[in-house]
Amino acid sequence: MSTTRRGFSYTKTRAIFVSYYRDGTWDSGRLQEDDHITISAFSTAIHYGQQAFEGLKAYRRKDGAINLFRYMDNGRRLMDSCERMVMPPVPLQLFDHAVKTTVLANEQYIPPYGTGESLYIRPLVIGLGPVLGAMPAKEYMFMVMVSPVGPYFEGGLKPVRMMATSYDRAAPHGTGKAKCGGNYGGSFLPQKEARANGCAEALFLDPATHTYIDEAGAANFFAISDKNEYVTPISSSILDSITQRSLKTLAQHKLGMTIVERPIKLDEIGTFTEAGACGTAAVITPIGEVLIGDKIIKIGPEGVGPISQRLYNLLLGIQVGDIADEFDWITIIKQE
Ligand code: PLP
Ligand code: COI
Repeated sequence: MSTTRRGFSYTKTRAIFVSYYRDGTWDSGRLQEDDHITISAFSTAIHYGQQAFEGLKAYRRKDGAINLFRYMDNGRRLMDSCERMVMPPVPLQLFDHAVKTTVLANEQYIPPYGTGESLYIRPLVIGLGPVLGAMPAKEYMFMVMVSPVGPYFEGGLKPVRMMATSYDRAAPHGTGKAKCGGNYGGSFLPQKEARANGCAEALFLDPATHTYIDEAGAANFFAISDKNEYVTPISSSILDSITQRSLKTLAQHKLGMTIVERPIKLDEIGTFTEAGACGTAAVITPIGEVLIGDKIIKIGPEGVGPISQRLYNLLLGIQVGDIADEFDWITIIKQE
């Protein structure tokens, strides 16, 4: 194991991929070494938040080869987000080409096997300008950029305390299901307040009734019950997490658990034996405590719960190629 302690921060790499949508079509794109872009000061992305992004990772295998994990699911979700933001969807073929080209161009930045680090891949679509009225742009830019990263939450697989917030990240019929920047900018204040109260992140409740758990910051929420159930929220305002989908499959097929998708009351949080945040950046981050008003509610015994640990080992093991890819989630983009 490496002793480096890289967090989730940006390191400039060799190149980013850039493609333009003009006259009703996406061009085939190209790599550029400069990680700055020049756009109209009247671009819809910066005035009106007309943009969408993705987050996925490339992993180094033990033999030095490079893995992508379920990356075309990110491509499909980006298309959905583009549609929600009235942007021309990035064709899957272009997404596929852009992700592989960018990762391979930056191969030297993929952290070595065994460090727990990976190459974070950030696809982004933005509306350009000049546009003054609040309306969709005519031209767009699709980019893919990468950065080596370590754990999103300090300490990696270590239970954190989250703060149930009274702010919403998305409205009941708003943009919560899309991965668009506005959902995140609006979360910075609840995040700041959570941190000021000694918590790692804000725990968002359903925006209609503020009764049920929605999401754990920029990650989905799961809980484990004493009936061997893997419990996840049903909500119209959360992102359909690819990590969450994978954990449900692993919990059911590898751990023999029952998957329960239902509204989860904030009030019942203390009844679970384990809880966690899951996502590409967060991987699995156990939630050990939740601050609700001025009360701290503990979830399960101290430390990382056994189910969260097993799910983490299975997920990471598949992602780096140590465990057989029986669900067909891995694409090896370069053999060593
Ligand atoms: N929820 C939100 C709001 C997110 O930003 C993310 C990160 O992408 C997730 C959940 C987890 O999704 P995924 O597992 O696809 O990364
Ligand atoms: C991801 O897990 O990819 C995310 O979107 C988190 C990110 C906002 C830092």
